[in-house]
Parts: sequence; C-alpha cells; structure tokens
Amino acid sequence: MHKIIAANWKMYKDRTEAATTADEIAAALPETLPKDRQIIVFAPFTAIDRVALAFREYKALSVGAQNFYPAVEGAFTGEISVGMLRDVGAEWVLAGHSERRQVFGETDEMVARKAIFALSHGMKTMLCIGETLEEREQGNLYAVLERQLTAFFAARPEGMAGEALVGRLAVAYEPVWAIGTGRVAGPGEVREAHGVTRTLLEKFIGETGKKLPVLYGGSVKPDNAGALIALDNVDGLLVGGASLEAQSFLQIIGA
Ligand code: PGA
Repeated sequence: MHKIIAANWKMYKDRTEAATTADEIAAALPETLPKDRQIIVFAPFTAIDRVALAFREYKALSVGAQNFYPAVEGAFTGEISVGMLRDVGAEWVLAGHSERRQVFGETDEMVARKAIFALSHGMKTMLCIGETLEEREQGNLYAVLERQLTAFFAARPEGMAGEALVGRLAVAYEPVWAIGTGRVAGPGEVREAHGVTRTLLEKFIGETGKKLPVLYGGSVKPDNAGALIALDNVDGLLVGGASLEAQSFLQIIGA
C-alpha cells in the first residue's frame, strides 16, 4: 500500500500564495519523493485549479477539496458540487473533518451521506474520524470510532461493496485534542486508535478492510512524522499547520 501524505491548507492562502507553495512542492519532486508515497493537497476552493496546474505532470501529486454539498446540482445557495470541483481539477474530497463536525455542526449522518455521495460520483474520499478529549477521558475511544464508522458503512448503498472502496476511500484518524494544539498523540495512543480503526474496518468489510489506508492527523511536524509513519497500521499522515510551508511539508513527505 502506498503511504499517503496529505496537506490540509484549511482557510489559508490566496491564489498567489497557493501557487508559490504548490510550485515549490512540485519542483522539489521527484528527487525528494520516496517511491511509495502519494501526495494530496486539500486546497481552498479558489486555489484548486492553480494547484492542479502545478501538479499536472506528476502522477504522485493530487489536489483535493475540503468540502462540498452532496447533490449533483440545485438551489443550494453558497454550496459547491463534486462535479464543479472535478471540473477545476480536484480528485479527492475530505469528509467529516473535525472542524466541519465541531464548527459547522455536521453530524455522523451528514458526514456519511457526503462520503457516500462523493464516492458514488467518482471522487476519492478521505473520511475523518476521531474522539474529543472528553470522550477519550471517559474511556469512549472505541465507541466513538465505531459510531462514526458505522454511520458510513451501514449507510452504503448495495453496490458499494468493500472492494469498490479500495484505492478510493482513505480513513484519517485525527484525535480532536491533537488538532492544531501542538499536542501530538503518543505512539501508544496512535497504535491503539489505529488498531481499533483497523479492527472496525475488518468488522465492516472483512479482509478488504486491511487494504484501506488509515492516516494519522493532529500536530504532525517534520520532527515527529518519521516516528508516526513507522507505526503499525499508520498508512499516511494528514497535516494541517506544518503543510503550509513547502519546506516543512517536503520534510514530512521525505520522513
Ligand atoms: P494540524 O491539523 O496538523 O494543524 O494539527 C491537522 C488537521 O486538521 O487535519
């Protein structure tokens, strides 16, 4: 399985800034890119086409969108469709990022609906899950990850079998208490949560669950990326703050 290193630029960077960073990443490759790595940049909507332009010659580099509305088109003022995103070069979308859940009130059901819609309409999807500090302290890690994954796996339409998800669905485990806080989860915590995630994936889709990449996210930095990616069941990293500077993101890619 290729390791996926993904950048989440959140609501940062105008087009000029995005172009500079994307060009710098593309220019540093392929020399710095280990062969088994796949890179995704989740850019702000207004910069997706420009990042796609920077990445066009590199198979290992893709661009994604951070949000979308699960309808083909319609009277949904202010929303954006996956078709529109594909039109400007997006290959991936995020679903269920904790900021969408916490700041915008997206429920497990909404997240599941969005992920299923995106996958059904040809978009590769990174489904984010993770517990809050309170949930962890109450011993609810397993229950929270199970609830979040069940919402998706149980709502899948008939045709969406496990095999159909391979190469198209990635799961990102991001403990909410580690996102943007500088408090990275320790190796034991990451191993445990990724083990739980893998067990749940196998519960839902059997052996195929071994083939879905599970990424870790939350305060990944150049100096902890190598240790994180080496852990069992960590198939990639989702990087926020430390992906904004090309040099720092390149160091993480090479870790
Ligand atoms: P962070 O963000 O790396 O800044 O903690 C991770 C994320 O939100 O995906």
